[in-house]
Amino acid sequence: MSNTIESHLIETRVFKPSDGFAQRALIPSLDQYRELYQQSIQDPDGFWSKQATELLLWRKKWDTVLKWEAPFAQWFVGGKLNVSENCLDRHLNGPRRNKAAIIWEGEPGEVRTLTYQQLHREVCKFANVLKRNRVQKGDRIIIYMPMCPEAAIAMLACARIGAVHSVVFGGFSSEAIKDRLNDSQAKLVITADGGYRRGAIVPLKKNVDEALKDNTLVERVIVFRRANNEIAITEGRDVWWHREMEYVDPQCEPEALDSEDPLYILYTSGSTGKPKGILHTTGGYLLGVTITSKYIFDLHEDDLYWCSADIGWVTGHSYVVYGPLSNGATTFMYEGAPNWPELDRFWKLIEKYAITVFYTAPTAIRAFIRWGDSYPKGHDLSSLRLLGTVGEPINPEAWIWYHTVIGGGRCPIVDTWWQTETGGIMITPLPGAIPTKPGSATLPFFGVDAAVVDETGKEVPPNVGGKLIIRRPWPSMLRTIWGDEARYEKQYWSDFPGYYFTGDGARRDEDGYFWIVGRIDDVLNVAGHRLGTSEIESALVSHPSVAEAAVVGRPDELKGQAVVAFVTLKQGTTALPELRDQLRQHVATMIGAIARPDDVRFAEALPKTRSGKIMRRLLKEIAAGGKVTGDTTTLEDLNVLAALRGSDE
Ligand code: WTA
Repeated sequence: MSNTIESHLIETRVFKPSDGFAQRALIPSLDQYRELYQQSIQDPDGFWSKQATELLLWRKKWDTVLKWEAPFAQWFVGGKLNVSENCLDRHLNGPRRNKAAIIWEGEPGEVRTLTYQQLHREVCKFANVLKRNRVQKGDRIIIYMPMCPEAAIAMLACARIGAVHSVVFGGFSSEAIKDRLNDSQAKLVITADGGYRRGAIVPLKKNVDEALKDNTLVERVIVFRRANNEIAITEGRDVWWHREMEYVDPQCEPEALDSEDPLYILYTSGSTGKPKGILHTTGGYLLGVTITSKYIFDLHEDDLYWCSADIGWVTGHSYVVYGPLSNGATTFMYEGAPNWPELDRFWKLIEKYAITVFYTAPTAIRAFIRWGDSYPKGHDLSSLRLLGTVGEPINPEAWIWYHTVIGGGRCPIVDTWWQTETGGIMITPLPGAIPTKPGSATLPFFGVDAAVVDETGKEVPPNVGGKLIIRRPWPSMLRTIWGDEARYEKQYWSDFPGYYFTGDGARRDEDGYFWIVGRIDDVLNVAGHRLGTSEIESALVSHPSVAEAAVVGRPDELKGQAVVAFVTLKQGTTALPELRDQLRQHVATMIGAIARPDDVRFAEALPKTRSGKIMRRLLKEIAAGGKVTGDTTTLEDLNVLAALRGSDE
């Protein structure tokens, strides 16, 4: 085996990049990583200016690299460019013209390949469809699509004309679409009749219809025909994608956009209130995802790269669509579930297409482990050369399994830490340069000044836990929360003034490696998806029987965290067993199936402080089945706790 395991103690296992991997890698040594990292920190303007020149195509060069009026950043001020031109047009003048940009397989098994030239044509045509339907620069567009090439085409077409897309995950409910429509004030929706998931058809168009019931802003719904399920058409509002494409011509000049023009809004959960519309803009975001894709996935011309995330999440934006295409890579897309029709679907795909780079989530890896080694072992996975994970901390044993069973002991693993807000990967190994330790995201990427601090903002010594912050702006950072600058400032920049607070806890070890612990605010991480406890609580309280609700996470072997809801009922309501299922279903309807509580517990009262704040900390301990060990002196009524524990038995 080419990798050296230096020790068998969990915390000290170190995997060096093999010589063979390093020799071919774009960044082939730790020294080279350190040199570039030093440059990026000592002279950020010089570093980013050089990268922006080398990696992107600009219509007009910028005047200023960074304008930083904390907490508001502008990158490449005065520069003009177009994201879709960078992802498509610039690859058409050489050998990439006929290279596959997207290879796609649908859940039922159809295969489609779009070369750069073909994808360019589709995007230009669809951009003209948008124009034809009166979309203008700056307009917000909701995209609610299955994982199919048209989802990427829709995103790139928006980018081409300067419309701002907001992709809503296809697993979200009509209520979630409604919230996002209202907040973004979108005027057009792009959807499909349905999408396939585990052999069933997800009724996407029907969900859109429901979300649009009282909406007065949306003038058009463009419907892509995917599943051929029956749908209702509202005359004058709904049009078919394929019909519209017949009316337009295939030329569409990319709009020269300002570097700070918005590219997209993506909604994500916060600790309070409704989801936040994270705003990403053009130049800095594109540079961030281009450079990270290139060096972290070590993209070579002949790679077939597969990121299994849905385009409804930021990972799908940055590492299915924009990052790989900007690099001229081939990105593989799969529509459906990993366990359909059999538990080996992913391994079948890797074998069939000879995928070389595979990027997935720890929750998926834990499911694969549970399903058993025979599924991957039944397939030839020797095409793989690099593996990645994202979304939550990966437990060392899952890491070792991924390395051994999927990677055959030869593939480096990049455990990438980042967030919707950061736009691109922030802390990560570079696969040919940085030795990895199972469970650690290792070292910061270029330009990332990350630190672990105590409550006062002071950096803590090695191996002491603290809060993860970023001490300087970076190109792909969020610019604001759509329509709510005050919340942006308060949420990210008020805990440690001038510094970005991630909401995560972490420690650094003696080698400076980061070990991310996870969220320390009221955000749950369920199967790699962010859910705010308050969103689920609001959904529960909107049910006529519920008086009050508190939602906490419970450690879960498979999903990372499971959702546990403590609920008090309105006077006169009886806690019937069927109410439990009704409430679980109610949350699924209001938010989406991923938010459905795993457990609903009825309580007489919730534990509160004297100021009325629910003490989630105590509920967490109860939910985890353990004893309440935390401080209860601020608890208003100790009897409440006893009663809750009683209901637990
Ligand atoms: C968690 C996903 C540990 C973290 C790209 C973060 C991780 C949140 C890792 C963001 C990782 C993501 N190790 N934890 N490699 N990657 N996280 O916005 O808590 O959906 O704050 O972005 O996921 O989730 P989001």
